[in-house]
Amino acid sequence: MSEDLQSSETYTTPMRSSNPLSKIKAENAKISFSYIPVAVFVGGTSGIGRGIAEAFARHTKGNAHIIIVGRNRAAAESIIASFPQPTSPTAKHEFIECDVSLLKNVRQVTSEILNKHAKLNFLVLSAGVLDLNRTRLTEDGIDPVTALSYHSRWKLIYDLAPALEKARNDNEDAKVLSVLSAGNGGKIDLADLELKKASTMTWIQSVMTYNDIMMDGFALHYPSVSFIHSYPGGVRTPLGLTSPSLFMRTWAFLANYTLLTYLLMPPENCGEYQLYGIHYTASTPGAWRVGQHGNDIGKQGYHGDDESRDALWKHTMEVTDSKNMASHGYNTRGNQRGISDLNQPSATSSPSPSQVEEENLAVSSTPKVSEENGSEPTMMDSPLTSIASDEGPSNNFSAPAGPENEAAPAGPEPTASAVSRRRRKR
Ligand SMILES: NC(=O)c1ccc[n+]([C@@H]2O[C@H](COP(=O)([O-])OP(=O)(O)OC[C@H]3O[C@@H](n4cnc5c(N)ncnc54)[C@H](OP(=O)(O)O)[C@@H]3O)[C@@H](O)[C@H]2O)c1
Repeated sequence: MSEDLQSSETYTTPMRSSNPLSKIKAENAKISFSYIPVAVFVGGTSGIGRGIAEAFARHTKGNAHIIIVGRNRAAAESIIASFPQPTSPTAKHEFIECDVSLLKNVRQVTSEILNKHAKLNFLVLSAGVLDLNRTRLTEDGIDPVTALSYHSRWKLIYDLAPALEKARNDNEDAKVLSVLSAGNGGKIDLADLELKKASTMTWIQSVMTYNDIMMDGFALHYPSVSFIHSYPGGVRTPLGLTSPSLFMRTWAFLANYTLLTYLLMPPENCGEYQLYGIHYTASTPGAWRVGQHGNDIGKQGYHGDDESRDALWKHTMEVTDSKNMASHGYNTRGNQRGISDLNQPSATSSPSPSQVEEENLAVSSTPKVSEENGSEPTMMDSPLTSIASDEGPSNNFSAPAGPENEAAPAGPEPTASAVSRRRRKR
């Protein structure tokens, strides 16, 4: 087990700061690209995904290729109609209808995206449901919560990773955000990776940890790309109200239609914070964990290690049938590497420790956003989070608010220990 992962129990971050929403918005307003970015929002038809997609469209002034993926066409069309009209002829806003709870559908949607786009700059994953009943299984034999929060996200990233790498190789942004619950996970049972024996609490916390480990695994396989797992805080969305679970609907009703609603963040604000997390906080390639204010939460509430990361990767490759990538119509070096290759030197040499140090120094010297106004009510935990954990993630705000994101150019593939060093420095 690497030193940085071992230290997760003792990792501490500064306490919560006030919510610098006005500063966040001002920084986001400075976002600009020298190219037309391609951004996919799976779960962009509602709630948090919608909030991030709208913030992205707003700050790019519509000059982006935005693809919303979901089932609700009417919602998607209305969201797209509200986006600023692009001035660039190559910018486009579109919807792809897809139930991503099924892996065969994920394969279809990723093929469709890859056929149209050789490069992908941003992949935002927020499709999810709240359902405590694990007896309702998808065709793949997985409960919908786990399928949407983990397996389909893993498969979307895996299939689209070549396009992300291509963007990075061309010196463009390449970032993935999975919105779930960074900082609220628990230990996982390597003997029950399918979560068949897990209690409700263990199941929910494990899916959160799976998202952490998923991003660690992808960061190791695709070292030029940024992989972020975030905790959005308590956000006022239809998630609980549309839950098949009576308990969740009741909780959501109380949260949305009583004074408690003032404790929840509007999706618009969440969209700004999460966009800030993607664009500014996750400033370099690698695995990141971001909190409700777009802040870096380091390894607070982190329960992964090398062994669980590798075991889960292998398990997920099998469950998602991801070894047959040749039949998917493309082939990349990254996709063909097995877990056993992770610690092997790649064709290019690994960065020296001093190169890693230099990169980290560059990150830490970026100016920080000061605590500011624009405050909103204190967040409360989401239904899922309140079941899973008494202790929320760090609410500190210490993310760099530097100039335009300047990730390091795609470089040689690091070894596992180089990735560990990078994580430890953060
Ligand atoms: N809201 C919170 O307070 C909170 C807190 C912590 C974590 N989270 C997590 O954040 C994520 C987003 O939550 P939210 O509050 O934004 O929920 P939401 O408003 O209900 O949005 C859920 C999104 O998931 C999509 N979706 C659901 N099932 C799908 C399927 N089978 N195929 C394709 N898309 C599907 C929906 O699109 P369609 O209806 O178009 O299919 C919708 O866009 C969830 O994973 C949730 O657990 C939320």
